[in-house]
Amino acid sequence: MKTYDLRSDTVTLPSPAMRKAMHDAEVGDDVYADDPTVNRLQEMAADITGTAAALFVSSGSMGNLIPVYLNCGRGNELLIDSRGHIVQHELASCTAIAGAMPVTIPTEKGILDVSLLEGRIQPDIYYCQHTRMVELENTHNAAGGTFYPLAVLRGIAAFARRRKLTVHLDGARLFNASIASGASVKDISACADTVTFCLSKGLGCPVGAMLCGRRDFIAEARRVRKMLGGGMRQAGIIAAAGVYALQHNVQRLAEDHENARVIAAALAGTSWAALDPKDVATNIIYFDTPGRDAEDVVKALERAGIRCGASGLHTIRFVTHLDVSRKDAKQVAAIVGKLKLS
Ligand SMILES: Cc1ncc(COP(=O)(O)O)c(C=O)c1O
Repeated sequence: MKTYDLRSDTVTLPSPAMRKAMHDAEVGDDVYADDPTVNRLQEMAADITGTAAALFVSSGSMGNLIPVYLNCGRGNELLIDSRGHIVQHELASCTAIAGAMPVTIPTEKGILDVSLLEGRIQPDIYYCQHTRMVELENTHNAAGGTFYPLAVLRGIAAFARRRKLTVHLDGARLFNASIASGASVKDISACADTVTFCLSKGLGCPVGAMLCGRRDFIAEARRVRKMLGGGMRQAGIIAAAGVYALQHNVQRLAEDHENARVIAAALAGTSWAALDPKDVATNIIYFDTPGRDAEDVVKALERAGIRCGASGLHTIRFVTHLDVSRKDAKQVAAIVGKLKLS
């Protein structure tokens, strides 16, 4: 029986063409900035985001931590949506390592706006910590792959400039956000001082993320990356996968969004899944399992050939990705449609 793995868009395997690019990569010692493939990937990332420079980091978590370390700093605070990846799934690194305090703001769909940020900035009194940063997640993972309208991002950017805050964009799924919102990656990135995007999610690479920003910021980020143990040597082997992905795997993300809609429509037609398919904005589907333990539904789905994960007592997440074709999505929809739960 074929298994459809919808646990995350991180489960993709490098394709034969990506592996060939990795095999053929020209490499050098990147701690000496000597690796031509890493340098090329960094130039491509800066170019795509319209930033001055970029740094290849080992993970999205590292790409989020470094800006908090440098631009927020010890004893200061950052404003973030309460379900943000940084606060939920990065082992409190912004506090444990960067010494910064996240101030979590509840939102309906993971999307902050100026009205939610105003009034959250600490007064300039000596016994109050400084508010230094706003952290945005686009698309928003835990809120269901939701994306920021460009006008909202621009409003936050202007607000941050007025209040002398830096903006970090956790764009682990930046390209999904761009495709779904119709805003260019450059326009989205221009609303932030620092941007991280992941190579090992929808883009299908085995490892890596890109941290983008001003040239002086990236020079400092390189030092912090080394401090965190992230200085890599012949990293061109893995950077080559990133170069390949940026050339071949960006535009196709629209297919993942369409596949998610196909599956969501099937889920909405069952008696055991509750969701509004209109809430599926990109490649992430959350649905509730009213009256049923989500773990039991996950097990039943696994027996039927669909791997997924519970995201709460009564909530399950499906994620579509590069290794789920349209045919696979239709097959998943058929399995879901037939599944009867007692
Ligand atoms: C929105 C978001 N940001 C950051 C990360 C962290 O990426 P990594 O697993 O590469 O550290 C993830 C991972 O799933 C994510 O979904």
